[in-house]
Amino acid sequence: MTEMGLFEAMYSARSLRRFRPDPVPEALVTRILDAAIRAPSAGNAQNWAFIVVRDPAQRARIGAVYRKGSDIAAAVYAARSRPAHLTEAQWARMLDTGAWLWEHMAEVPVLLVPCLRQRDMPPAEALPREIAARHGEELAYLDRIRGASIYPALQNIILACRAFGLGTVITTNHLRCEAEFNTVLGLPEDVHSFALMPIGYPLDRHGPLSRRPVEEVAHADRWSAPWPGGSG
Ligand SMILES: Cc1cc2nc3c(=O)[nH]c(=O)nc-3n(C[C@H](O)[C@H](O)[C@H](O)COP(=O)(O)O)c2cc1C
Repeated sequence: MTEMGLFEAMYSARSLRRFRPDPVPEALVTRILDAAIRAPSAGNAQNWAFIVVRDPAQRARIGAVYRKGSDIAAAVYAARSRPAHLTEAQWARMLDTGAWLWEHMAEVPVLLVPCLRQRDMPPAEALPREIAARHGEELAYLDRIRGASIYPALQNIILACRAFGLGTVITTNHLRCEAEFNTVLGLPEDVHSFALMPIGYPLDRHGPLSRRPVEEVAHADRWSAPWPGGSG
């Protein structure tokens, strides 16, 4: 098992979408999940659940749902143009490896599905009158931040996979056919999946990651005031 520096992991944990069929040791999956649950969540509620799908028949069902959702994604991507910050080669690599995964999701040895059980507001009667009066706004607020209680765990999963030499990528195309997906996994009504992460030994290599530079995305004190850019 490799131990690597945090920054080395962050700078090289690229999305990997093409995998060898070799199984992933169960103990490594457990370590990855143990890293996932170190993530923060609103109110420390830890309402998460992680479904680890290894059964070939289940993977085939999930692969079929992902394939179906990807037909929609393909049409959307065909209508999108390449973001200016990506080179032709980077854009082509994303589309080509993405398309590989549409066809091969079911063959990836581990399909990890991070889920959250919905956290509701206390009933209006239990709240002070002025807060109860803004119950609707509070519900909208909860909705607005919901994903933030699971996405940090996904980043920990990405970094843990990187440390173990495993590949993964956040995918969401299955949510285009969510009802069917939920039926396959038998999810309760109040539990929602937020991603489908294939995990396996990659055919391609990790890192380096290329991103829009800090000076392009950072603002000092208010929108569009340039960040001075000193490095520490
Ligand atoms: C919310 C979200 C949804 C994504 N959905 C998909 C997906 O359905 N399929 C896929 O192949 N990649 C998906 N990705 C992966 C992105 O394409 C990837 O993070 C991005 O291209 C950066 O890749 P890099 O880290 O290798 O540079 C998703 C990423 C995020 C954050």
